[in-house]
Amino acid sequence: MSMQYAPFLDAIPQDLVSASDYSRYAKEHLPQTIYEYVVGGGADEITLNRNRQKLDDILISPSLLQDCTNGGTNTVCMDEKFRHPILLAPVAFQQLAHPDGEIATAQAADLLETGMIVSTLSTKPLEDIAENLTQPKWFQLYFQQSHEFTLSLVRRAEKAGYTKLVVTVDAPLHGIRNRAQRAGFVLPEDISAANLKDRPPLPRQSFDASQSIVFQGMMSEVPTWDDIAWLRTQTTLPIILKGVLSVADALKAKQLGVAGVVVSNHGGRTLDCLPTSIEMLPLIRQAVGPEYPLIFDSGIERGTDVFKALALGANLVCLGRPQFYALAVAGALGVAHLLRILREELEVTMSLAGTPTIKDISSDSLI
Ligand SMILES: Cc1cc2nc3c(=O)[nH]c(=O)nc-3n(C[C@H](O)[C@H](O)[C@H](O)COP(=O)(O)O)c2cc1C
Repeated sequence: MSMQYAPFLDAIPQDLVSASDYSRYAKEHLPQTIYEYVVGGGADEITLNRNRQKLDDILISPSLLQDCTNGGTNTVCMDEKFRHPILLAPVAFQQLAHPDGEIATAQAADLLETGMIVSTLSTKPLEDIAENLTQPKWFQLYFQQSHEFTLSLVRRAEKAGYTKLVVTVDAPLHGIRNRAQRAGFVLPEDISAANLKDRPPLPRQSFDASQSIVFQGMMSEVPTWDDIAWLRTQTTLPIILKGVLSVADALKAKQLGVAGVVVSNHGGRTLDCLPTSIEMLPLIRQAVGPEYPLIFDSGIERGTDVFKALALGANLVCLGRPQFYALAVAGALGVAHLLRILREELEVTMSLAGTPTIKDISSDSLI
């Protein structure tokens, strides 16, 4: 254990030793409405529950008596160096968890040499978050109602030193969030999207009886493949599409010059009954070939989960809810502790599986 973390340890309760422990503790630290909003998934949570089941169903095949003394978790993806392949997924409105919000998360990411994807819907300005990050920093972009305003966010991200644009395409509208509805979750008035402060007011829409508030309303403003092609012409930042869950969409992204995709079901929070990312990952890897960058999320809670995703073709993985829970429980310290837990769990898994480097992890590492 590195000495630089030693002062932290006294402040952490003794029985807080895994990512799921943070989930347990977060329940006590958060108002119930916020906890339910974060923990929940879409509708009947079939996809949410399946995310865990399908990861749990995969077993690791150990290769014994390997020399691991030169091992390490370092990896390179899209020309960026990562100390380990675990990134922080974009998670909106982090001041719901802690007054320091995304700044605390960024400080923890930096300390634990972890890449961070900053949400369009952050409660701190993207520039302020960037100032705290020397590790790979990517900006997650939600398309806005006008190309002009979307572009203003891209320019700000470029100026602030973000190196990739992660365009989320699986959540043009919320899924059916019954759990959050039942809990009565509404965004508190003092919490808002700092990056969207200057967003022009949305035009008032009215619908006649033949029209749908979903199709003619919400969906009229969301991007299509043409908008992704347009965005490519507007920026030199590599574009990553987040939320890809089919072979066809992954291939289309690759053909369009998209730099990589995040295989994700948004943590089971959008459409219920989607497949899990871990089911689709090997199929997508096979279709796009060995070199195309694939990032994985939805369900990661353990170093063994990270290992399984890498074995099935991911280059990097992202953590969603666990970072929010850790932030709620202990701010920057909690997120740093969580990242250390996962990094060490990955190291232990790699050592016991006999795969000392990230490159050694393959489908042969699984049963
Ligand atoms: C509270 C919350 C807020 C989120 N906000 C965003 C967001 O702003 N942008 C985005 O692309 N994904 C968002 N996500 C999805 C995460 O980036 C990620 O895909 C998902 O949480 C991964 O699943 P996991 O929670 O099981 O790790 C959010 C997820 C949660 C739980």
